[in-house]
Amino acid sequence: MVTTATVPEFLTPTTLKSTIRFINSHRQFFGRRFLDPIPNSSSRIFAVSEISKLVTEFDPEIPLERASTPPSSWYTDPRFYSFELDRVFYGGWQVVGFSEQIKDNRDFFTGRLGDVEFVVCRDDNGMIHAFHNVCSHHASILASGNGKKSCFVCPYHGWTYSLSGSLVKATRMTGIENFALNEMGLKPLRVAAWGPFVLLKMTKTPLSQEEVETDGVVETEWLGTSAGRLSQGGVDSQLSFICRREYTIDCNWKVFCDNYLDGGYHVPYAHKGLMSGLNLESYSTTIFERVSIQECGGNSKAGEEGGFDRLGSRALYAFVYPNFMINRYGPWMDTNLVIPLGSRKCKVVFDYFLDPCLKDDEAFIKRSLEESERVQMEDVVLCESVQRGLESVAYDKGRYALVEKAMHHFHCLLHQNLKL
Ligand code: FES
Ligand SMILES: [Fe+2]
Repeated sequence: MVTTATVPEFLTPTTLKSTIRFINSHRQFFGRRFLDPIPNSSSRIFAVSEISKLVTEFDPEIPLERASTPPSSWYTDPRFYSFELDRVFYGGWQVVGFSEQIKDNRDFFTGRLGDVEFVVCRDDNGMIHAFHNVCSHHASILASGNGKKSCFVCPYHGWTYSLSGSLVKATRMTGIENFALNEMGLKPLRVAAWGPFVLLKMTKTPLSQEEVETDGVVETEWLGTSAGRLSQGGVDSQLSFICRREYTIDCNWKVFCDNYLDGGYHVPYAHKGLMSGLNLESYSTTIFERVSIQECGGNSKAGEEGGFDRLGSRALYAFVYPNFMINRYGPWMDTNLVIPLGSRKCKVVFDYFLDPCLKDDEAFIKRSLEESERVQMEDVVLCESVQRGLESVAYDKGRYALVEKAMHHFHCLLHQNLKL
């Protein structure tokens, strides 16, 4: 018999309730024993305390010099992954695409993050909208891929929605009672643009149209005081979209982020080709609220010797918590969006943008993309190797080097989102 006295002290009635609600909404991961409806059942308290224990195994109060990394369970446990989606990804701004994808009226694109299927479009008046991409009739996914549409017609039974989300036609519903078209529109999501990027604020619970419209503070919430530094670095300058490359990697999404955030530590060992274009002595890392910026000077000799210099005189690598990277170097910018696909799988979407004056230089583009692809494939091998190591019984926690302060910052932000 377990009494309420066994509830850990850090669980107030409110956090306990929201955690139980979370567990019940993710029963595929928690199994029946966590669904027991009897209040104060020992099994349910066990589930809450298990997750909490995993979170508290990392202590953000310990300075980097003495800190250990989060335990491997953060990267391997399916229960932790599910909890993390809820706490880290649903609620904050997420980049989901770039403005050129919805440059003209009637352009749209779709995507998925966790369980949230979304569609973003520009209506006939030039307004940007985002919706849960789910038909109100029997839940079919409404739009697929990207392109141009004057309305969204459900591929299942033909219900039709306008680009502003209202249901304009429900086929064969004559004779159905208590049915109002204006109550069955698409569920809106908060959408915003910053520089070339399109962002959504994911929520698991649908919002009303009024709630969607109240948000206009994306720069402060998303980038904080780093916005000026990023603008100065040319992140929101006018560049032309060149192409997209996608990589599915057998590792937890955080392994890819950690690899990005090690302050250039792995470059001399794992990217010998890249190293020749960088002056690693000049590497610096600046931490902002939810952003870290790593910068590195270019090696001017690289351009002189080979006559080919894609990196230019300075490279800026910005990490925007939790899963977006902006790399600005020479005439290029590429962005990496890390989409979690499970506790040990993620997809990384690379979008490449180039100074418009070079967008017709096919040879330069081809060679730059080949070099970038080579670096990326080297990182894929590293990340998949780390994931296998994290799953080994031989490893639980590691240590940081001083250059890895952006990684430590990332882990502290995760802890802040995850703590109960
Ligand atoms: S599920 Fe969309 S019209 Fe039936
Ligand atoms: Fe790398």
